[in-house]
Amino acid sequence: AETGYDLWLRYQPVEAQWRDRYAALVTQVTAAGGTTMLVAAGELRRGVAGMLGYDPVRRETVIGDGAVVLGTAQSPLIAPLGLPLAKLGREGYLIRSAAIGGKRVTVIAGNAEIGVLYGVFRFLKLIQTRQSLDDLDISDAPRLAVRVLNHWDNLDRYVERGYAGQSIWDWQKLPGHKDSRYTDYARANASIGINGTVLTNVNANADVLRPEWLARVKALAEVFRPYGIKVYLTARFSAPIELGGLKTADPLDPQVARWWKDKVDEIYRAIPDFGGFLVKANSEGQPGPSDYKRTHAEGANMLADALAPHKGVLMWRAFVYAAENPDDRHKQAYTEFQPLDGKFRDNVLVQVKNGAIDFQPREPFHPLFGAMPKTPLMMEVQITKEYLGFATHLAYLGPLWEEALQADTFRPGKGSTVAKVLESGAATGMAGVANIGSDVNWSGSQFDQANWYAFGRFAWDPQAKAEPIARDWAAMTWGNDPAVTGPIVRMMMESREAVVDYMTPLGLGHLMATGHHYGPGPWIADLARPEWNPVYYHKADARGIGFDRTATGTNAVGQYAPEVAARFGDRKRVPEQFLLWFHHVPWDYRTRSGWTLWDELIVRYDRGVAAVEAMQAAWKPLAGKVDARRWEEVRDFLAIQRDEAGWWRDASIAYFQSVSKRPLPAGHAAPA
Ligand code: GCU
Repeated sequence: AETGYDLWLRYQPVEAQWRDRYAALVTQVTAAGGTTMLVAAGELRRGVAGMLGYDPVRRETVIGDGAVVLGTAQSPLIAPLGLPLAKLGREGYLIRSAAIGGKRVTVIAGNAEIGVLYGVFRFLKLIQTRQSLDDLDISDAPRLAVRVLNHWDNLDRYVERGYAGQSIWDWQKLPGHKDSRYTDYARANASIGINGTVLTNVNANADVLRPEWLARVKALAEVFRPYGIKVYLTARFSAPIELGGLKTADPLDPQVARWWKDKVDEIYRAIPDFGGFLVKANSEGQPGPSDYKRTHAEGANMLADALAPHKGVLMWRAFVYAAENPDDRHKQAYTEFQPLDGKFRDNVLVQVKNGAIDFQPREPFHPLFGAMPKTPLMMEVQITKEYLGFATHLAYLGPLWEEALQADTFRPGKGSTVAKVLESGAATGMAGVANIGSDVNWSGSQFDQANWYAFGRFAWDPQAKAEPIARDWAAMTWGNDPAVTGPIVRMMMESREAVVDYMTPLGLGHLMATGHHYGPGPWIADLARPEWNPVYYHKADARGIGFDRTATGTNAVGQYAPEVAARFGDRKRVPEQFLLWFHHVPWDYRTRSGWTLWDELIVRYDRGVAAVEAMQAAWKPLAGKVDARRWEEVRDFLAIQRDEAGWWRDASIAYFQSVSKRPLPAGHAAPA
């Protein structure tokens, strides 16, 4: 039975009419090269065996009609073709219908073998999605250099904010046993262009830097290397004290710098292509340079200098807000980081979350994007759905990421989208907090696989669009029947807005109950730090609801470019989806639909629940059209989601009504 283990690389047999067309153009596979080329040929062989039903790898070396020729620019068969590979970079590829020795062939070429592997996955996708293989002329290259998963995996295999079982890193059996799952993980990532993985949690445990752990990391790096995937680790800033026995971790102390340099050299001796470090410093209790009155730049640069001789990268997170700081949490990262623009080393990437608070169902883009033109910024998104119903709620995040990437920062001028800001740095990248665990379906649900898939596609091309990505994923994961993919893509495209509606409509945010962040908790007001309490975010009172972040309030809007600030700061001009994010609005304020704000809120909660019911209705007729086991799992999860969407709506409305003292509008569905 299908479990979902194969992800989007299912390679199921194609329909007879397609099989004959494809078979004529894939008669044999020719490849020569190193381990990555072997992996590329192996993947093609596996895909063809599954989809077309034969083994295309032949003993004879003579090229015939229909050969698929894999190679780099230097390969003897490819070089004479004079293909325009130069501008595609190390990871780009080209797929072309061509003639070699009078035979009609398909060439899959890259400047390096990794490009060929990416090209092979693209070629297989053509078959998976039933595209023609005639007259191919495809070329592609990633627009961002560092495309990494961030695993929030602890060394005891507990995954922080993970909803798919334990960590897939089975440290206890490493390095002696390399689970075959690591290879499948690498295949899946390579198929979507992910080229790095941070193995450990941002809330870091320094132990991973000990020799016995590095031996395990090395084993994983060896599995991933042929797939173009580098390993990175989180570095706990206080490691020189904890592991090195030093009295300080002050980044300006020469002994501290020496300790890190030696540690980095030790890592590179074991893992010559080690990617670098990811650091969460002075955030939520993590140690960092401010412990020694040093800046983020001073802390980051010290580590960056240790990595630079090895071409390592330092990813330094901008997710900071301090207990002692009474200012709007929304503003704190900008306040701390923006003045440091230009002060970071070239191999530092400042890693900024898509929004200023924390991976909410909807947030405006982070004001740091565009505001640090002399500093490479990478964007961090959360693939795991900490605030969107974990693995049980169906929420396709493609539209969320597209919205963030297409947001116009107006810095330096109109059209400067977040995507363009990301592409413009001397170093470029995007990070996704992984949703992967030991569950047989990897992500805790079938549909959460789509978020892993979409992350890779957006990191490769931040200009990508969510809907075509959903279509590709649906076809590869559920088959090519339009009667199946049509409803699935519609469900996906509407799913995130449904979550916004039943959890945090109209620009509300951070109303999830404490700690787990799963259910509603808008009434919570008693936590130690004010900015952890949901009441801090919605500020509902007898008069109205919402957070005044305009000039009359915290003036967080002032951190955006003037054009953006003018729009967000004006109740009439702010997109209604951000209304309560930036404004405290009276309950009887008229929204664009003509309702009072109070009624509009309730309409949105109802709409969210109705959207989940619509997903249930769309899924039901797919019984028998998709395999039973996966169908039943989705059916069950949608039922859970429907119940919980109802809880969200009913609990939220009941609480807000206790504050607003307003009657429920006519037509509002009674609580289930
Ligand atoms: C969120 C999340 C934490 C995580 C933090 C981070 O606040 O709840 O678990 O550590 O983000 O990104 O560092």
